[in-house]
Amino acid sequence: MKKMKVALIGVGDISNKYVDNLKQYPKIVEIVGCAARDYEKTVKRAQELGIDHVYESVDALLADPEVDVVLNLTVPEVHAKYNLAALRAGKHVYTEKPLAATFAEGKQIMDLAAEKGLTVCCAPDTFFGSRLQTMREQIDAGIIGRITGGEVSMLCHGWEFVHPNVAFYYRPGGGPTLDMGPYYLTALVSLLGPVEAVTAMSGRSTETRYLPLMDKTVPVEIDTHVTGVMRFASGAIVTATFSFDVWDSIRPRMELYGTDGVFIMAEPDSNGGPNIFGGDLWLRRKQDFRWGKMPRPEGVNDIPFETVPCDRPFNETGHDRNSRGIGLVDQVLAIQEGRQARANGQMALHVLEVLEGLVNAAQEEKWVRMTTTCDRPDALPADFLQK
Ligand SMILES: NC(=O)c1ccc[n+]([C@@H]2O[C@H](COP(=O)([O-])OP(=O)(O)OC[C@H]3O[C@@H](n4cnc5c(N)ncnc54)[C@H](O)[C@@H]3O)[C@@H](O)[C@H]2O)c1
Repeated sequence: MKKMKVALIGVGDISNKYVDNLKQYPKIVEIVGCAARDYEKTVKRAQELGIDHVYESVDALLADPEVDVVLNLTVPEVHAKYNLAALRAGKHVYTEKPLAATFAEGKQIMDLAAEKGLTVCCAPDTFFGSRLQTMREQIDAGIIGRITGGEVSMLCHGWEFVHPNVAFYYRPGGGPTLDMGPYYLTALVSLLGPVEAVTAMSGRSTETRYLPLMDKTVPVEIDTHVTGVMRFASGAIVTATFSFDVWDSIRPRMELYGTDGVFIMAEPDSNGGPNIFGGDLWLRRKQDFRWGKMPRPEGVNDIPFETVPCDRPFNETGHDRNSRGIGLVDQVLAIQEGRQARANGQMALHVLEVLEGLVNAAQEEKWVRMTTTCDRPDALPADFLQK
């Protein structure tokens, strides 16, 4: 096993998690430096993150022959620019989601990677987490039968109350669909396989947003409430709502309906759903079907859901903590083992096509059929990273 050297472009809000997590795998990855927009700010930030070397520019980073993998943690509107530049410089890429701000740019990235014989992987890697891996195992074991439908709901009022630099969420490449949709769609694709066609409706509650932590009002350039329907190649029909226009909700983040039961991601918490690695998983089996009990016994409405233990270990330190970056660790292992990485760019491109399809279907009042497809990523073996 030869460890690979990683350099970061972008050292903002999310970079701490990556740096902390990647440092746990010193035999597999080594962070050799970083670069971002403003050199002075980047030097200061690198000290906080414990990164020893700051390149004077992104170009200098890309010109360093020591760098094997570029970790792109910039904002979505420049993801494509740096993913393409890194590939041109002969580097493998791991990028934050979405793969690019548009499907057309995403395709260019994957075409260039194929031409260069390099790999591209993309967040989210939350489907490596204990809950989604447990769901995967149980679905594959037929616990809820064939999945015929489902519903996902990402309902909140945007990130301006918690994120210090939130303006990009209201520009193209941001918005609830492209920002949060990748978590939901990647989870669904990892569980159900690829999507065949989508349709949707959308709107926005306001034309401008006041961002309190920036004390600034910005124009809203994208729709902030999108409700769509997706038909998967498996036949499952899943409805999806992605919204930054909802003050509160108690809807579960995800429900999957099978011929023999139902899985529910229980938490209505704004920080729950497929964007976390852990979380509770509820199961209702058809034999516990509430309305099937005749004559209806006292308390039939109180029959609790089963809580499924999500205790699959997947690394040395835990199975449900915030492990962002584990997809990059898997990418490096995959390069060396000659297999496809789980958080691979083909899946990210397909997910991007689905999400852009929802947005376009709503704006153009039509159905959109997917032109890409992908394989389900391999399930994680129980001893992943424990050998
Ligand atoms: N913040 C979160 O909680 C979070 C969670 C998951 C994923 N993400 C994703 O991570 C990515 C980064 O988000 P963030 O919250 O860290 O953003 P941020 O604005 O805090 O940081 C962005 C970084 O990119 C750099 N950058 C921006 N434009 C650049 C350019 N043109 N050239 C060079 N560097 C540039 C900035 O200097 C900064 O270092 C986004 O794709 C976001 O969707 C963020």
